[in-house]
Amino acid sequence: MKLSTPLLLSALASGASAQGGPYSQCGGTGWTGATTCQSGWTCIYSNPYYSQCLPSTSSSSTSSKASSSSQSGSSSSSTSSSTSSTKTSSASSTATPSSTPTVGPSRLTGKLPALGWNGWNAYGCAISADKVLAAANSFVSLGLQDAGYQYVNIDDCWAEQARDSTTNSIVPDPTKFPNGISGLAAQVHALGLKIGIYGDAGTATCSGFPGSLGYENVDAASFASWGIDYLKYDNCNVPSNWTDSGNPPGGDWYNSNSAIRYRQMTAALVAQSQPIQYNLCIWGNANVWQWGARVGHSWRMSGDSSATWSYITSIINTNVQYLDAVNFFAHNDMDMMEIGNGALTLAEQRTHFAAWAFLKSPILLGTDLSQLNSTQISIITNSELLAFHQDPNIGTPANPFTSSTSSGTTTPPEFYAGASSKGIHVFVINTAGSTATKTMKFVDVPGLNATSSQSFKVHDMWSSSDLGTFTTSYGVSVGAHDTVAVLVTPV
Ligand code: GAL
Repeated sequence: MKLSTPLLLSALASGASAQGGPYSQCGGTGWTGATTCQSGWTCIYSNPYYSQCLPSTSSSSTSSKASSSSQSGSSSSSTSSSTSSTKTSSASSTATPSSTPTVGPSRLTGKLPALGWNGWNAYGCAISADKVLAAANSFVSLGLQDAGYQYVNIDDCWAEQARDSTTNSIVPDPTKFPNGISGLAAQVHALGLKIGIYGDAGTATCSGFPGSLGYENVDAASFASWGIDYLKYDNCNVPSNWTDSGNPPGGDWYNSNSAIRYRQMTAALVAQSQPIQYNLCIWGNANVWQWGARVGHSWRMSGDSSATWSYITSIINTNVQYLDAVNFFAHNDMDMMEIGNGALTLAEQRTHFAAWAFLKSPILLGTDLSQLNSTQISIITNSELLAFHQDPNIGTPANPFTSSTSSGTTTPPEFYAGASSKGIHVFVINTAGSTATKTMKFVDVPGLNATSSQSFKVHDMWSSSDLGTFTTSYGVSVGAHDTVAVLVTPV
């Protein structure tokens, strides 16, 4: 694929290019993207799991970021550099509370994994009302809204550096958002869509704008008054008394300092008059899969995505260890989509979309939608994969199974099966770098309860076409890094 200028910018923002863009990830365990930063920015070590491109003159603060599930719950604090915001963090913002809210998230939103867009992978900090509105209009013109895409989400860098000195509210940047967030929200709502915003459970966001720790109530009230429907809540710049070192009291990570920071925002959100879907951007720290559903609707399982095959395989591999956590109102978040960014092959883009769909991760597109070609649009609007992802009757994802036809275990696993309202589906990823024949024996597929010589109809979800009736097994040639997606029904 030839990179047009906007796509090239996307690649820069996502860190998949030679040099990382502002505030992008530039190192850490499992990181395969850029390890140096563009001029004026320096790659600063934060902890073994995360380094970030920060302004070359930045000062120090504290944050901690894990990129993999191999993290035990310990989100040990370490020193990183970050831009210092001009906001003051009052004593109340860092004092640990005497009692912690136990209220759970709203049940009026977040039953199914979110489908939408977020500007970060495409634009980084260079976000504006125009770009958000362009994405919303593309939802309508490209058929994404008809396919079920709903949320148009703003990421970091939407605010002014200082809170309002009288009300303590965060102030939207008037240059980027001339009609405020509320004006933009009204325009997005007028299209029949929903709007999301970004905050941080520390004293400043990852890009140095006001954090919400200690300001949960005032910020949740602002979000609600602007008409916000979705909050992504990040984990940068956490004061040291709010981090976790070692196991939390009673061994339950719901009672960890990390979880308590997120619980404070849960309580503030549910006190608002409208439901706000709540995403915990906690990068797989603090065993979030154990308590995420008691606090929010979805939770990040890793550090930042990149437009690389190695990111796709590593996050699938992480996520498959924690699929028991996934059900209605509870979704492991594999991070925002990279279709349209970098140099993923078509097969890799298909696998990216299919895996996020069959593992029921939120799917938030992360590119300039106007640059997508018709093949990419057909991937992200595939009605059968979206129906599996958005099934109103079955909340569980597909799970890996052991196929007696495969020669050995792969990382990530290749064979997955899951139920939908239509029946049993099988998904097969060819993790190898060359075309291979993949064969599923029906007796191996969980949920089919097949006898050894039983016949099944096999239906291709990608093309919505029946492939025929097969006895005992179904084999198919799969391109390098591509994914087969079929519905298997007893004859
Ligand atoms: C990171 C987060 C990214 C993006 C960025 C904004 O911590 O994982 O998804 O939100 O902060 O600064």
